[in-house]
Amino acid sequence: MHDGWLGGSGTRAFAELIRARRSVRDFLPDPVPPDLLDAVLADASWAPSWSNTQPYRVAVASGTLKDRLEAALCERFDAATKAKQGGMLGKLRLLVTRKGLPDGDYPTTFDYPEDLLPRRRATGFGLYELLGIARSDAAARNRQLRRNFEFFGAPTAMFIFVHEGLREFSVLDAGVFLQTLMLSAHARGLATCAEGALATWAGPVRELFDVPPHQKLICGVSIGYASPHPVNRYNPGRGNPRELLIAPRAIAEAAVPTGARRPP
Ligand SMILES: Cc1cc2nc3c(=O)[nH]c(=O)nc-3n(C[C@H](O)[C@H](O)[C@H](O)COP(=O)(O)O)c2cc1C
Repeated sequence: MHDGWLGGSGTRAFAELIRARRSVRDFLPDPVPPDLLDAVLADASWAPSWSNTQPYRVAVASGTLKDRLEAALCERFDAATKAKQGGMLGKLRLLVTRKGLPDGDYPTTFDYPEDLLPRRRATGFGLYELLGIARSDAAARNRQLRRNFEFFGAPTAMFIFVHEGLREFSVLDAGVFLQTLMLSAHARGLATCAEGALATWAGPVRELFDVPPHQKLICGVSIGYASPHPVNRYNPGRGNPRELLIAPRAIAEAAVPTGARRPP
């Protein structure tokens, strides 16, 4: 029996680390020391990728850069919210003025697949319940949604881009990178929230960063130190891991070659 590379207690600590990481939605304003951020990025760079191509890039915004991005994104969020509230006329204005119209590389709002809706709803309702936001309270829900574009108060926001030339596989690789980054941050005392919402508008980040050609904005991450706000206690849990398994089809005994049959 192999003990594993980390040894018994190390393996248990690793399993705990994975389970204890949470999406943090309220940060302290304290800045992240640059060397700590570098260490997290260095860890994340060890994520495996398709042919070791590392087909992603990261734009990191702190200080004034972060403030400018926050202001630009919130402006767009407010314009889009106002348009939605304005009914048909509002939507028309959005189309004409284009102020607040999503310009992301990938759409972030679309119809959810029916089978994924229950988990999505349970996660959203659980969060709003914890925050004391009633389902009917659209204003409070909007305020909470807006927090995404305020980076939940984090001192640093990251924007992850993927190379379009590697198609779905660069997105897959970015996911592996993202989890490695979030676990490293958590292990080093930092908190994160991956934010698909931050891919809604790509214009502001393209204006402020020299994004290489073929790189498409897929996701953002807020990073910093968790505040004691109750929202950070939210744990949506997980389904039974067995539910992730795809059952094999029953194979007719006669169709299996004799050599492949299990001994009785
Ligand atoms: C790719 C990705 C995008 C996400 N986008 C958002 C987001 O835009 N806003 C948000 O509040 N949480 C976002 N989350 C956090 C998820 O809601 C969260 O991971 C999930 O509910 C499980 O909770 P946990 O991370 O605390 O375990 C995102 C997570 C991932 C991995």
